Amino acid sequence: MEKKKNVSMAVIKRLPKYHRYLKELMRNDVDRISSKELGEKIGFTASQIRQDLNNFGDFGQQGYGYNVKELYKQISLILGLDKEYTGVIIGAGNLGQAIANYNRFSESGLSIECIFDANPKLIGMRIRDIEIKDIDTLTQYLQENSTDIGIICVPRINAQKVTDMLVKSGVKGIWNFAPVDLVVPDDVKVENVHLSESLLTLVYLMKDN
Ligand code: NAI
Repeated sequence: MEKKKNVSMAVIKRLPKYHRYLKELMRNDVDRISSKELGEKIGFTASQIRQDLNNFGDFGQQGYGYNVKELYKQISLILGLDKEYTGVIIGAGNLGQAIANYNRFSESGLSIECIFDANPKLIGMRIRDIEIKDIDTLTQYLQENSTDIGIICVPRINAQKVTDMLVKSGVKGIWNFAPVDLVVPDDVKVENVHLSESLLTLVYLMKDN
């Protein structure tokens, strides 16, 4: 599928939600659904759903709605889930180990191949079957192993440094958990994940409740 250029970030951020709900519908053997019904499930309006999906093609049929399996397939393609991605975690502390221990990122196409850390006590250990290697060997590893995504789980003061190492070796995706705004070239994509921001949103919503 051709990648569309001018799709807004807000639409892109909603795609994983469509994907998740459609998967759930398939699990429940639902074959087709109208944009109104889908909207009610997800909490979007029917017109929002139609507008979002129209960015990528003409998926629904007047009077029929969406074919769930087909739409799921198309959204998977739009998200790039037809490809496999390889990743390395940088930082094998609490968070790095928790991510390595989660075994279902492969459903999103990500295979975590290795973890790198600077602490000699951790080097050589395994989290599931993923080995923790010395950060000093990262550049060589990246020369020898094609790697798409670097997962940043080091303290903030070291986050830019390890990101630079990844970028220099050609890694094009950074999944950043460190609370810092990383600086990268335009062709490198960064997605930040900050649980505390999500928590602050919750706290705000609960305020004066
Ligand atoms: P931690 O202290 O348990 O682990 C950090 C690990 O990074 C240690 O094993 C340390 O040896 C390693 N490390 C430090 N400098 C390194 C370097 N230059 N190269 C390779 N390894 C290096 O810390 P924790 O709790 O796992 O947090 C890690 C990062 O994730 C922090 O930046 C923290 O703020 C962030 N974090 C973010 C969350 C989020 O929601 N985005 C939630 C929890 C933590």
